[in-house]
Amino acid sequence: AKVVLAYSGGLDTSIILKWIKKTYGCEVITLTADLGQEEELDGLEEKALNTGASKAYVEDLQEEFVRDFVFPALRANAVYEGRYLLGTSLARPLIAKRMVEIAQQEGAQALAHGATGKGNDQIRFELNAMALAPELETIAPWREWDLRSRSDLVNFAEANDIPVPVTKEKPYSSDRNLLHLSFEGGELEDPWQEPGPHSYLLAVPVEQAPDTPEIISIDFEAGNPVAVNGETLSPAALLRRLNHLGGKHGIGRVDMVENRFIGMKSRGVYETPGGTILHLAHRDLEGICLDREAMHQRDSLIPEYAKMVYNGFWYAPERTALQAMVDATQGNVTGTVRLKLYKGGVYPIGRKSPVSLYNPDLATFESDEVYDQADAAGFIRLQGLRLRAAQGVAAKGQGK
Ligand code: ARG
Ligand code: SIN
Repeated sequence: AKVVLAYSGGLDTSIILKWIKKTYGCEVITLTADLGQEEELDGLEEKALNTGASKAYVEDLQEEFVRDFVFPALRANAVYEGRYLLGTSLARPLIAKRMVEIAQQEGAQALAHGATGKGNDQIRFELNAMALAPELETIAPWREWDLRSRSDLVNFAEANDIPVPVTKEKPYSSDRNLLHLSFEGGELEDPWQEPGPHSYLLAVPVEQAPDTPEIISIDFEAGNPVAVNGETLSPAALLRRLNHLGGKHGIGRVDMVENRFIGMKSRGVYETPGGTILHLAHRDLEGICLDREAMHQRDSLIPEYAKMVYNGFWYAPERTALQAMVDATQGNVTGTVRLKLYKGGVYPIGRKSPVSLYNPDLATFESDEVYDQADAAGFIRLQGLRLRAAQGVAAKGQGK
């Protein structure tokens, strides 16, 4: 039998690799996906093979991640519980998809992951994989083995010739990709406790941000960002550029207590500098490009869309259907937004579009020829018809 394992090369997934071989006696094929986590991938193939993998895939999926997962969510303005830009949630379906493809190509029967039994990631891995290849089984060692503590893990590693890195234990549980860096655990488990200095990696604390603002421009085509300061960039390069610009100005930090799908509340800190700039820029451009009712309909669906992504239903029919609705609104979201970056804030200061719906002749406070102000009186009178009726009932002391 063969298993495809999502392998980071760290201590935990190395232990998982060995544990699966010992427990299930099967061949383990690893996938290490580069989604922009900025970890050294050189030597990982060799490391996986030395730890017992029969084959090791190491793949750069950054462009696909940004183009096919981050940008679709950006077009939807997706935000979970009003603040979380879904950095981890959007990466899982891509990893699941590649694992499924490898499993099918290699004739594997199962997929394995290193997510714990308490979080969202296990659900996302498994639901996304299930939607694509229901015949594949899942192995989730954290839900199966009896290793309970850090010292259990270290003992297992030492007994199995897995080198234990001497670096001191990481202060947080983190997940990083081109869209974000997340921090959970450690002192953050007390929601009243301020996050420590180690939770600043992509963005400087706002106190240390430069005293002079920086003006940038972003070009969009059909809802997708394509250029920064006039320079056309690939999706991954564009997001990397904005992460850098945003990080310098302390932009995109979120500290929140969120609701996990599995049921518990969890405190997380996120750094999403580029994603935050893109989110605000996209929203701003929609202001001149989108029809009012198309925008309001789409807006009413954002919480639902975000929940689908967060809960692991990327490949579900309801997400695909919502995406089609969202994308149908985006054809004319084309143009340029100018923004000021300053001390943790992103401030749109100008926008233009070749397909703008903004009509200065209509909106002007100066005299105009296209709009008859007298029309407004009848419009308002009819809008108020039912309000006057309701007030009439209330005045007689009837109704509630
Ligand atoms: N709470 C976030 C989410 O559910 C981040 C999860 C981070 N995952 C991790 N394995 N550290 O999307
Ligand atoms: C984990 O439990 O593996 C990380 C946190 C999460 O999935 O929500």
